[in-house]
Amino acid sequence: MNEPYLIALKGERVVLRDKKLSDAADDYKWRLDEELTRLDAAPPLRLSYREYMLFYPEEIDYPSPGRRRFGIDTVDGKHIGNCMYYDIDLRGGQTEMGIMLGDRDYWSKGYGSDAVRTLLDYIFVHTPISRVYLHTLDWNIRAHKSFQKAGFVPIKNVRRDSYNFLQMEILKEWWQEQKNKENGKKASEPTRPSPTVRS
Ligand SMILES: CC(C)(COP(=O)(O)OP(=O)(O)OC[C@H]1O[C@@H](n2cnc3c(N)ncnc32)[C@H](O)[C@@H]1OP(=O)(O)O)[C@@H](O)C(=O)NCCC(=O)NCCS
Repeated sequence: MNEPYLIALKGERVVLRDKKLSDAADDYKWRLDEELTRLDAAPPLRLSYREYMLFYPEEIDYPSPGRRRFGIDTVDGKHIGNCMYYDIDLRGGQTEMGIMLGDRDYWSKGYGSDAVRTLLDYIFVHTPISRVYLHTLDWNIRAHKSFQKAGFVPIKNVRRDSYNFLQMEILKEWWQEQKNKENGKKASEPTRPSPTVRS
């Protein structure tokens, strides 16, 4: 039986939905993957699956306040990664976000930028947050390009725990301008007749 979601946010290529228990095997595999953890500036996990599962269900049932996690599925339901926003500062109107596509088959095909756009649409429409920022390793060009496609702008270099990060941000007003442009473009596009098949 499909688990009911409180939230399922539909993008063009992905659906962002609540985390679920059946994500555990993928999440564990991705946390052990040395390339993925290197891109995330973190060490690989050193827990057995049994140890990992001691905490996993609790985080699903009682998610930590101050952050919101989503699984990223393709539109046909394959779990390919995760994203979240965290360090939510409602008073200051800002939050940090992070994303990881664990399944390499989906890298550089637009899934990441679509997931980020979908998450931004949710944050800017449904929360009082007006600034979203992120940190990505300064050599992770694929990530920089993907985030730029979603509207993020590089702000400054940040050195943290012996890693060099690029900080990027997007403001609600920039996101809104982007939306207005997209909507204006759609409205001014002539409606094309559907293609006819000739025999
Ligand atoms: C970072 C990530 C979310 C980006 O999502 P994605 O779906 O792979 O990226 P997109 O397809 O949206 O955009 C990537 C762009 O970078 C380009 N690109 C990829 N590798 C590149 C490289 N080595 N040099 C230059 N450009 C590169 C792609 O061609 C694409 O640009 P285009 O659409 O103009 O052709 C995803 O790759 C990922 O999760 N990677 C593993 C973990 C990671 O890096 N996390 C980031 C933590 S901040």
